[in-house]
Amino acid sequence: MKIQVATIFPEMFSGLDIGILGKAQQKGLIEVNAVNIRDYTTDKHHKTDDTPFGGGAGMVMTPQPLHDTINALDPEHKVRRIYMSPKGKTLNQSMVERLAKEQSLLLVCGSYEGIDERIIELDIDEEVSIGDYVLTGGELPAMVLINAVSRYVEGVLGSSESTSEESFSDGLLEYPQYTRPKSFCGLDVPDVLLSGNHKDIKEWRYRKQLEITKERRPDLYYALFPDSDPLTENKKKGKNKSAKKDGKE
Ligand code: ADE
Repeated sequence: MKIQVATIFPEMFSGLDIGILGKAQQKGLIEVNAVNIRDYTTDKHHKTDDTPFGGGAGMVMTPQPLHDTINALDPEHKVRRIYMSPKGKTLNQSMVERLAKEQSLLLVCGSYEGIDERIIELDIDEEVSIGDYVLTGGELPAMVLINAVSRYVEGVLGSSESTSEESFSDGLLEYPQYTRPKSFCGLDVPDVLLSGNHKDIKEWRYRKQLEITKERRPDLYYALFPDSDPLTENKKKGKNKSAKKDGKE
C-alpha cells in the first residue's frame, strides 16, 4: 500500500521507520512518502499560511501550496484523498478496515487554525478525525491512521499478531491477557487459563469481553445487544454468540 502525505513537517514521519511499520516499509509492503507543502509554494517568502478573512485568532493555510502539492502527488485524482481534521468523521475500526482496502491514500495535514475551506471543496474526498480533541496539526492523526491501516496490509503483522482476535474486531473490547509467571506480586493467573480446556477458556474469554465492554463502553455493548443482555437475561444463549461487527461508520 502506498501512502502519500502532504505536510509542512515531513521529518515527523521518520517516526514510522521503526518497529513493525519500519519492517513493513523495508519489505516494501507499505510505502510512506511525506512531501513538504512548502516546496510547492509560489510565495517569495515560502509562506504557506495567512490571517483569516473576517478576523479571528491564528493563521489559516493558504490554498495555493496545498492545491499544488495535492495535484502534483495525485494529478488524475486516482487516490482517496483524506484531510485530517477535528471536524471529520471519527476514525473507528470499520473505517480503518475500509481504508486498508485502498491501493493508495493521500493524507493532507493542516496546521494552525486549519486550511482554506476551498481546498476541502476542490481536492478532498473525506475528512477524518482521530477523536474529540484538538491537536496542533494533522501529522500525529495521520500517523495514527497510517499505523492502524497498515496492520491490515497482508504480511505486515505476523500470524501471532493477527487482527482477528483483538479489541473491536468483533465489536467488543479484548479479554485480559496473562503470561509467565503464574503468580506475580501475589496475583495469580485465573485457573481456567491453565486448565488446558479450550472450550472453558473460550467461554471465560468471551464473558470477560462482555463484562469489560459493558462496564467501559456501554455504547458499544448496547449497540451490539439492543434487545437482550447476554450477561443477565440471556446467559446461555449469549455465551457463544458471535457478536456483530461495529458497522457504525
Ligand atoms: N488535527 C487537529 N486535531 C485533529 C484531530 N483530533 N483529528 C484529526 N486531525 C486533527
